[in-house]
Amino acid sequence: MKFAVLGGTGLIGSQVVTKLNGAGHEAVPHSLSTGVDVITGQGLAEAVAGADVVVNLTNSPTFDDASLAFFQTSMDNLLAAARKGGVGHVVILSIVGAEQVPDLDYYRAKVLQEDILKAGPVPYSIVRATQFMEFIDAVLSWTTEGDTVRLPTTPVQPIAAQDISDIVAEVAAGTPLNGTLNVAGPDVFPSTNSAGSPCRRVATAAPSSPTTTPACSPPSAVTSSPPRAAPGSLPPATPTGSDETGRPITGGTTMSNDEPAADGAGSRPRSEAWKTALTVLQSAKPPSVPEGAEAMTVLIEYPPGDPGTPPHRHSGPAFGYMLEGEMLFELEGEPERIIRAGETFWEPGGDVIHYQDGNNRTDSWSRFLVTMLCAPGRPMLTLVDDEELARRRHLRAPRPGA
Ligand SMILES: NC(=O)c1ccc[n+]([C@@H]2O[C@H](COP(=O)([O-])OP(=O)(O)OC[C@H]3O[C@@H](n4cnc5c(N)ncnc54)[C@H](OP(=O)(O)O)[C@@H]3O)[C@@H](O)[C@H]2O)c1
Repeated sequence: MKFAVLGGTGLIGSQVVTKLNGAGHEAVPHSLSTGVDVITGQGLAEAVAGADVVVNLTNSPTFDDASLAFFQTSMDNLLAAARKGGVGHVVILSIVGAEQVPDLDYYRAKVLQEDILKAGPVPYSIVRATQFMEFIDAVLSWTTEGDTVRLPTTPVQPIAAQDISDIVAEVAAGTPLNGTLNVAGPDVFPSTNSAGSPCRRVATAAPSSPTTTPACSPPSAVTSSPPRAAPGSLPPATPTGSDETGRPITGGTTMSNDEPAADGAGSRPRSEAWKTALTVLQSAKPPSVPEGAEAMTVLIEYPPGDPGTPPHRHSGPAFGYMLEGEMLFELEGEPERIIRAGETFWEPGGDVIHYQDGNNRTDSWSRFLVTMLCAPGRPMLTLVDDEELARRRHLRAPRPGA
């Protein structure tokens, strides 16, 4: 995939570029120093042209009220360029709990940036991180007078720049969340300990709003799969204040309990693995769930080149995970796209037609899991006849090359 990384020379941007290129993608860094200005728009159209995904990791030069204008103008320019360039996914990096600190201009500016993205024309993902470990030195320097460092007792839960860069790269290479993923470092400690322990383990907290994607299954390709326990989700970290200079300090969290119960582990000693074992792959808010819905998890397997299920509907929402290969996926009103191994997808079900779920590759099988919430007594899927397809043709996104 092709990525345009705005702010690609910065702390996070440069590491995201390295990570994406290392994974075999084509990621190009853009910033003031490469001749691209998100404020004047200079070079922006050229930067995003041909990109599948734009990752915006630019930062305002100041944290004062000028940051509001920076994020407003840069997002307006970026989204206009992304729409014109046919970009399919825009990703930004914001701050956990920013809306809870409206007194700080910079936090309001980040919320504004998120709101502009959410209201914009391009599928998106928002990754929210706690303070970067690397930023703590700056905070310490702002609050140091002579030999004295003045800090609030606020707890913090910082994250290493490399860890958040890895997560941003993974989100950028995945299906747009059309929602928010909160990410925090593993350790909570008072900011007065800010010399801090190295923060290399990462916990991801539950996304806070929906993902948009569909999935489905043909009766012939469906096999029952034993039920598995769904993982729990970690609550998002929240910032609790600012330092004495009024500059933002993120931190404070409701995540994790350091005193696990003595029961449940049998004779095996407790480990710390549970704190980082969970990765949120997808979170969605389906518009409706059929009353009395039955949850069914199925495995769908298609041989090379198989076109998959004819156009169909499901009685309720369906949530999927690609295990192997590639699916060519299309939901009514959305352009077709490829879902690759390790990516998630979902569809709302109901009236929306699911057009395609076939194997995109001719040299390997495709395999994916789907959990469907089915209306009781209704078939798992219902095919749509030719007459209705013709009637609703205008609702289908333009075919490639049309
Ligand atoms: N600090 C934290 O703890 C924290 C926590 C959560 C989220 N974030 C967010 O993470 C994002 C990245 O932060 P960072 O620390 O990686 O930033 P950074 O190191 O300060 O890098 C900023 C980047 O933005 C570019 N840039 C600035 N103005 C530009 C303009 N007008 N046009 C084009 N490019 C411009 C810079 O380009 P040049 O190098 O060419 O000047 C640089 O590549 C920010 O949006 C920030 O809000 C930060």
